[in-house]
Amino acid sequence: MAAPGHAIVLIGFMGTGKSSAARELARHTGRKRFDTDAMVIQQLGRGIPEIFSQLGEGAFREVETAALRQISPHEETIVVTGGGIVTRAENRALIQALGRVVNLTADEETIFARVSRRANRPLLKTADPRRTISELLRERRELYASIADVTVDTSRLTHSQVVDEILRVLDVPRALSVTPGK
Ligand code: S3P
Repeated sequence: MAAPGHAIVLIGFMGTGKSSAARELARHTGRKRFDTDAMVIQQLGRGIPEIFSQLGEGAFREVETAALRQISPHEETIVVTGGGIVTRAENRALIQALGRVVNLTADEETIFARVSRRANRPLLKTADPRRTISELLRERRELYASIADVTVDTSRLTHSQVVDEILRVLDVPRALSVTPGK
């Protein structure tokens, strides 16, 4: 059965290019974009590292689920999610109800190289982040796959190639004019 919702939801591990792809997708389709990480930050009034260190991961996950619940499945939107959102069964059901689910993947080396550019991911502040990535991927890979309608490996694609591929596989038309800086 086709997904009832009208959203396009991007899921995937940290460093698979979800945020950039979502921004570009919003620009090229004219759709409004919802970012669950940004919604959590807005709701709690502080950055993700502070949320984890001051309130704990549990608080982050509660507000993340609440954010997901606020997004309507009836609108044609682009929804981008944090990498750990699939760990809750409740979130997986909410995501599937929102619309079509795009799972972005990348090989471990690429993920490690990409996440190493920024120090804003508390779950990777470990003695051996490379190993943490492997372990989290092992726990989560099947969860992403279990709710995905399509999967795009971004390891060797540019941002615009990722967007081209998503629009092509979902058969979504481009807007007549590209929205600047969305
Ligand atoms: C997390 C991924 C992050 C953010 C938080 C937790 C995770 O989002 O939600 O740091 O559990 O994988 P990105 O996937 O956008 O980095």
